This record gives sequence, structure tokens and C-alpha cells, in this order.
Amino acid sequence: MFNAVWNEKYAAGDSLNKYPWDKIVSFIFKFRPRNKERHETKVLELGFGSGCNLWFCAREGFDCYGIEGSAIGVKHAQQWFSKENLQADLTQGMFYPLNFSEEFFDLIIDRGSLTCVNSKDSYLSLQEIFRTLKTGGYFCFNPYSTRHTSSVEGTLLPTGLTKIKSGTLTGVGDIKFYDEKTIRELVEKVGFKIKEMRHIEDHYFTPSYGTHAEWFLVLEK
Ligand SMILES: C[S@@+](CC[C@H](N)C(=O)[O-])C[C@H]1O[C@@H](n2cnc3c(N)ncnc32)[C@H](O)[C@@H]1O
Repeated sequence: MFNAVWNEKYAAGDSLNKYPWDKIVSFIFKFRPRNKERHETKVLELGFGSGCNLWFCAREGFDCYGIEGSAIGVKHAQQWFSKENLQADLTQGMFYPLNFSEEFFDLIIDRGSLTCVNSKDSYLSLQEIFRTLKTGGYFCFNPYSTRHTSSVEGTLLPTGLTKIKSGTLTGVGDIKFYDEKTIRELVEKVGFKIKEMRHIEDHYFTPSYGTHAEWFLVLEK
């Protein structure tokens, strides 16, 4: 299920980031295949938002694809890429099913997108990511952690999503937070090997913010 809060944010000009996230820049350069040219290296981002991560990938010469639920996000990115003469296949859609053949992508990016969907949808999406990733390819999975103040002080719903009342994630709709056991079991059940796994925490001195906590996993097929 797509949460319309993202359309509202993008329509208001919020979260239309211009520059890529540094963790995505590092992931792409560290895990890109060395045995092929960049234009032969296929990169998919799920939930590309403004398009900032794919903008960086396209500028660096990768063959880029993106799926995004927000029509406003898609239109924004398409106009931006066209203005800068950058090529990318940018489509409005959901995270599953993915309309690509098996073993199609070398690299797949999730930067805070799969964490927007409930437990059932995230499992189905991860299965599609696994199917469309090449054997030996890498997927970066970046959901939020149950140690986040927005999770600790929120209300867990039967779907696995949390209704947020406080912390840095207020205003982004319901979020699925993961603890270490759940995330390990989930990715291993789908078939991924964990190549790298980080838990990142920032403790704000601003009392209403509390703790920001997320996972950053690099998963290998
Ligand atoms: C936190 S934003 C991340 C945007 C981008 N990845 C970035 O790093 O700037 C999450 C994105 O996922 C999209 N999204 C959330 N749930 C979705 C779903 N079920 N299907 C497709 N897109 C979805 C939202 O519209 C939003 O653009």
C-alpha cells in the first residue's frame, strides 16, 4: 500500500533532495562490478523520491532504473533528468511485482523506502529484489531500527507498521522498524548473504528529537 503522504510532501516542495546520500555514493563505488563498463552496469532504486541517488548514478555513467509510488516524485525526476540530458528508466509503480526479468540488475538500492511498507509487503518486495538481482550482485537495504525514538514511543499496529507520535520521523506516515533478530531472519529467509551490516545511531541533544537509529545492510545474492 502506498502512503499518499509522500505525494503531499513532494507537492509542497519538501524532501526533493538535490544531492545523493553519502552512504549510497559509497555503496555504488565499493560494490559496482569491476569486470564490466559502467554503461553495462544496471542499477535499480526502489522508491527513488526526487531522483537524487539515481541522478548521481546516471551522471557517473551507470544504466539506471527506478520505481517510485509518487506520481509527483516521478514527474519531478523525469523533468530534472531531461533538463540535464541524463538517461534513466523512471517508472511509477509499487515495489512488487517488479516488471524485470530474473538476474537483470547488478546493484539495487533501498534508501529508506522499504521501511515505508508493512511486514507482508516488505517480504514480497525482498523476494522480487532477490529474483531480479544477478547472482553475485548486491542490494543495499536501509530500514529504520526499533531503537529509534519514533519506534520506542510509537504504537505498533497489527500490520507491523508503527504509528509515530514523536522523534525525527514524525510526518512521514507509518513506518516498519526492525530489530536485529527480525532483520537477520528476514533477509536470510529470502536467500541473501549478509556482506556488511551496520547499526547507526545518532543521539540528539535536542530533547524532542531523541535517538535516530537505522540499519544499513549490504546483501549479496
Ligand atoms: C524516505 S523516501 C526515500 C527517497 C529516496 N530513496 C531518497 O533516498 O531520497 C521513501 C520513498 O519511497 C516511496 N514509497 C513508499 N512506499 C512506497 C510503495 N509502497 N511503493 C512505491 N514507492 C513507495 C515514497 O513515495 C518515497 O519517495
